Amino acid sequence: MAYSDKVLDHYENPRNVGTFDKGDASVGTGMVGAPACGDVMKLQIRVNDAGIIEDARFKTYGCGSAIASSSLVTEWVKGKTLDQALTIRNTEIAQELALPPVKIHCSILAEDAIKAAVQDYKEKHAG
Ligand code: FES
Ligand code: FES
Repeated sequence: MAYSDKVLDHYENPRNVGTFDKGDASVGTGMVGAPACGDVMKLQIRVNDAGIIEDARFKTYGCGSAIASSSLVTEWVKGKTLDQALTIRNTEIAQELALPPVKIHCSILAEDAIKAAVQDYKEKHAG
């Protein structure tokens, strides 16, 4: 299958690859898997005292579309509040990357990974 130029760009030059210390109080970690293909995506956010996501990292064991989706969302979440980050939809990711129908689940993985990272951060700071 042919990848779009944007997928190839993120695949060849992925943004924000890496990890933060999971135990750091300012970090939220999301780890999700795609039942359809067994791929795994880890996405982390670093949140400042004002509640703004100031940085993000990812590690994705998966196809080019999954890598591109996670790379893209690490760029999108920067500067957003947690609630704003939760409004990112896989359809926007799929549209931006021009993903074909069989690759839509790769963008869902990225949406789920953000949600999981925000959830993890909120649980750390609950109560
Ligand atoms: Fe999992 Fe794409 S099918 S790598
Ligand atoms: Fe399964 Fe991309 S995440 S094919």
